[in-house]
Amino acid sequence: MNNVCSTVLDAIGDTPMVRLKAFGAATQPSLYAKLECTNPGGSMKDRAAKGMIEWAEREHNLSPGARIVVCTSGNMGVGMAMVCAVKGYQLMCLVDAKINPATETCLRVLGADVIKVYQRDETGGYHLTRLNKLETVLSEYPDAIYLDQYDSPAAVASHFASTGPEIYAALDGHVRAVVMVAGTGGSSMGIARFFKEQSPQTDIWLIDEIGSLALPDNGGAAPRHLNGMGTSIAPANYMPNDFHKFIDHVVYVNAEDSIRAAIDLARCEGILVGGSGGAAVQVMRDIAAPHYGPDDHVVSLLPDHGSRYTETQFDPDWLAARGINVPEIFNVEDESR
Ligand SMILES: Cc1ncc(COP(=O)(O)O)c(C=O)c1O
Repeated sequence: MNNVCSTVLDAIGDTPMVRLKAFGAATQPSLYAKLECTNPGGSMKDRAAKGMIEWAEREHNLSPGARIVVCTSGNMGVGMAMVCAVKGYQLMCLVDAKINPATETCLRVLGADVIKVYQRDETGGYHLTRLNKLETVLSEYPDAIYLDQYDSPAAVASHFASTGPEIYAALDGHVRAVVMVAGTGGSSMGIARFFKEQSPQTDIWLIDEIGSLALPDNGGAAPRHLNGMGTSIAPANYMPNDFHKFIDHVVYVNAEDSIRAAIDLARCEGILVGGSGGAAVQVMRDIAAPHYGPDDHVVSLLPDHGSRYTETQFDPDWLAARGINVPEIFNVEDESR
């Protein structure tokens, strides 16, 4: 019975790290990918979801049937819905029109109540609309507990305690750089804080999509297309005053390069990830790797699996409607086109 989990929550974490030989064939340092899609809810957000709900249990003494509310682009909702199913809590997910249909279905199957907003806010995103809706929901359900993933020491702590140490241990501490993407900051700030304490010589690279307002020195709001990455507010998790103590390099990407890199990774290495994972490997190979030498190890964190994006980032019509040019996707002869 050594490998039997007492609940699915015990299966969160200890995700595999894969050496990328073909994808980074021309680079000097060795490149690695940490595959967070192997978490049971399908993304790295399972770690923060479990940490945040355990925090709520300590803080609010939750009993079965307790109602939890979260604003999510999808993966955090799936993680929390999984945790709530195991623990007997009721989850309400405030999502927006950008959510992947597959992710929304997962939320419903896991028993979450899905509340969806469609109106863009003044930044062109949906977050401020979701916050307005949140106020209505909390006035309708005064006992509900809102878990704010944009300002969550528990989310940061979960990656500080698990993902960071896993990366460090997998390479026996020889980690020259870690490349991550930006969203709420739970994953990147937890991992960055771990490395700045444990291994200050490790460089931390953080990637955001052009048009996101997540990071202190952003270039202003513009339409964004990558799911999970970027925000239309500045999350407190990034600690704007101390941001540069933890983050060494910031890189902005566009959806086209990121999705093309995700497809390249799938075809070179058989690793199918979402567009944010594509951004991570593209920046690792093309922008970070040239800074390092043949004895260096550079790690990218790939947040989730690509199968959630068959109707969005990997769909030719979805891409065409947004003017995103990904010719690689048309590799199948389709007589209807
Ligand atoms: C696919 C994907 N990539 C990146 C991120 C950003 O991670 P974080 O919120 O920890 O910054 C998320 C978060 O939801 C995500 O779902």
